[in-house]
Amino acid sequence: CLMESSVPLQSYKEAAEWILAHTDQRPRIAVICGSGLGTLAETLENKTVIPYEDIPHFPSSTVPGHAGRLVFGLLNGKQCVCMQGRFHIYEGYSMSTVAFPVRVFSLLGVDTLIVTNAAGGINSNYSVGDIMFIKDHINMPGFCGQNPLRGPNEDGFGVRFPCMSDAYDQHLRHLAMDCTQELGLQDIVQEGIYCMLGGPSYETIAECNMLKLLGVDAVGMSTVPEVITGRHCRMHILGISLITNMAILSYNSTAHANHQEVLQTSQLRAAALIALLTNLVGKM
Ligand code: 6GU
Repeated sequence: CLMESSVPLQSYKEAAEWILAHTDQRPRIAVICGSGLGTLAETLENKTVIPYEDIPHFPSSTVPGHAGRLVFGLLNGKQCVCMQGRFHIYEGYSMSTVAFPVRVFSLLGVDTLIVTNAAGGINSNYSVGDIMFIKDHINMPGFCGQNPLRGPNEDGFGVRFPCMSDAYDQHLRHLAMDCTQELGLQDIVQEGIYCMLGGPSYETIAECNMLKLLGVDAVGMSTVPEVITGRHCRMHILGISLITNMAILSYNSTAHANHQEVLQTSQLRAAALIALLTNLVGKM
């Protein structure tokens, strides 16, 4: 066979069956915690914690700032499952492996996916610490064939050619906007377009300027595989980028992108994001 292998259907099923046998919780909401935002999972009540390595076929995480476990529990009285630590294509995983947990969640009964990430600000009206609700995305790796749905279609999850023009749920986004008003966060809230690049190197100045020309507001190395896979199985999706640093657009700048700044800013805003998601889940 000359085809690349994609994840076999049986692997999703075995992972889901194992999880169903190890917790009584049946959440409809899943939250993927981005860099430094894993503390959200600590705030759940009645936790069931499952390390990724215990789950059959689950990939395992390697990035500082990302733990590697599923945390089931109550957030503001609602059952949720949090991914504390996610997978990235720069670790060497395929897009379908990165999105493996999303299909497992679907088999558990999850129908709403909240995805968070740390991102670099491209829009010059943005500031470090801003919270951007993702309105749309650009799958840059998709331009050269990288898509989590590449390979034979699993008809049980969704159609061969899924629509992506409504990838980010408008109702959820407006609900989240209402929450930021209630919490007094409106001055740090943005709505914009997220672009995924493969990483792990940050962008050159020329690349940042190209992204700006394309209408990108924030750039990161994640989220898009999970969103495409979630939409394929008709999940409702809310995407949130925390602007942890500003992308460098000028040759006169002396700034340098680095992971420490990313983690520092996410720690600065962790409490605000937890408050936002707690409030939001209560409204869902
Ligand atoms: Cl500036 N670029 C990318 N690709 N990912 C990031 C980032 C920048 N800042 C945080 N994550």
